[in-house]
Amino acid sequence: MASSAPVTGEIKIPPHVPPELVRKLGITESAEFLAAPHKFMAALHQNCPPIVYSYGDHSPPAWNLLKYDDAYFVLRHPEIFTAEGSGPFPRDPDDYWKIIPLEIEPPEHRKYRALVDPLVSPKAVLALEGSIRRLANELIDSFIGKGGCDFAKEFGRPLPVGVFLDIMALPRDMMDEFVRWAMGLLHAQDKVIAAQVMGEVTQYLNKVIAEKKAQPDAGLVSAIVNGRPGGEEMSARETFGFLFFVWIAGLDTVFATLNHIFLWLAKNPDRRQEIIDTPDNINNVVEELLRVFTVTFSGRTLRQDYELRGVKMKKGDKLTSILPACNYDPEIFPNPEEVNFHRPRKPVLTFAGGAHSCLGAHLARMETKICIQEFLRRIPDFQVKPGTRIEYWPGGVVGPKEVPLVW
Ligand code: HEM
Repeated sequence: MASSAPVTGEIKIPPHVPPELVRKLGITESAEFLAAPHKFMAALHQNCPPIVYSYGDHSPPAWNLLKYDDAYFVLRHPEIFTAEGSGPFPRDPDDYWKIIPLEIEPPEHRKYRALVDPLVSPKAVLALEGSIRRLANELIDSFIGKGGCDFAKEFGRPLPVGVFLDIMALPRDMMDEFVRWAMGLLHAQDKVIAAQVMGEVTQYLNKVIAEKKAQPDAGLVSAIVNGRPGGEEMSARETFGFLFFVWIAGLDTVFATLNHIFLWLAKNPDRRQEIIDTPDNINNVVEELLRVFTVTFSGRTLRQDYELRGVKMKKGDKLTSILPACNYDPEIFPNPEEVNFHRPRKPVLTFAGGAHSCLGAHLARMETKICIQEFLRRIPDFQVKPGTRIEYWPGGVVGPKEVPLVW
C-alpha cells in the first residue's frame, strides 16, 4: 500500500512524534481508500504499526488507533482522552457552541443524555417497529414494479431520514433539504460550501427551536429545546449545539450503512438465501454486517501526557479511533474479512463505546434489521445493475454514492 509509506516535511510534525510512525494513510480521501474502503481498513493491520501519526489533505494530524483494545480503552477513559473540541463542524470562535452531548464529559454528560435517551431507548424503538415496517413497505411499493431502483436514493436515504423526522416531530417534506445540508456538511470537503450550509442549517434550527418552545410536543426536538439538564436552564448556545448534533448524527450514518449492506447483499446471492433460510439468526446477521460495514470514527484529545502501547503522546495531541479498522482487528475477530453470521459475539465498536456510545444505536439496529427483512421478503433476488462502477463518498461517514439495483 503506497500511501502507508512514511512521509515527512509536508507538515510540521511535533518533536515527540517518532518519524517512523508518521504516515499519510489516506483514510477517507485517498484513491486506494475510496476504491474499496473496508478492504483498505483490513489491510492496515498488515501494512501499518498499530498506532501511527497520520494526516491528510482534509484531515489534521492525529494519532490513528487501529487496534480494538486501544480504542476500547480510549473510549472508556474520558478523564485522560476528552471528546471536547473533537467536532469537525465550522464554528465561529467568537460565538462558540459545544457539540452536545459529545463535547460534554461525565458526570455532566449524563444530565444531557437523560433528556434524550428515553426517546430512543430499546423500549421506545420497539414501539416504532410497526411504523418503520410500514414506511419500508411504502417505499418498496413505489419501485418494486420497475424491476430496479436507485437503492441509495429511493430506499437507503428516505427510510432513515423519514423515521428520524418522525422521531424529531419535524415535517417529512423537509427530507430533501435535510439531505442537501447533510451532504454539504459531511461530504463536500469544501470549507466555503460547509460554511454556507451551516448558515442555512443555523437559521432553520433556530426557527424550529422557537416553534417547539412555543408549542412543545412529544418529539426529540422538543425534548432538547425544552429540556433542563440537571434541572438547570440551558443557554441558547447549548440548546443549539445539542439540537445540531443530534440532528446531524442521525442523518447520514444509517444511510451509509444500508448502502454498504445492500451492495453486499446484491453481490452475494447465496448469503441472501442464508439470511432468508435462518430468520431466527437475524440479530447476529445485523451485528456482523454492522461490524464489517462500520462507517465512522471517533476523535479525542489528550488531557495529559500519556503512553499507549509504548507510544509516548503529549497533552493536547489528537487521537482518532479508526473504528472500521478496529472492527477488523484479527486478534479480536479472526479472519476479519469473512462475513460470518455465527461468529462468537464480541461487542462491535461500530457505535463506539463508553459514556459517548451512540445515542441512536438501538434505532440503527432496528432500522437495519427491518430493511433487510422487508426487502428480502418482497424482493428476494436482485443484483447490482450491470456495468455499474461503485464510488464512495470521501469524508467522515464512509459510504457508496449510488447503489443501482435490478431484479
Ligand atoms: C449506523 C448508524 C450509526 C452509527 C454507525 C453511529 C456511530 C456513532 C459513533 C461511532 C458515535 C461515537 C462518537 C464518539 O464517541 O466520538 C456516535 C455517537 C452519537 N450518535 Fe450515532 N451512529 C449511528 C446512528 C445514529 C442515529 C440514528 C442517531 C440519532 C438518533 C445518532 C446520534 C448520536 C449521538 C447524539 C451521539 C453522541 C453521543 C454522546 O456523546 O453521548 N447516531 N454515533
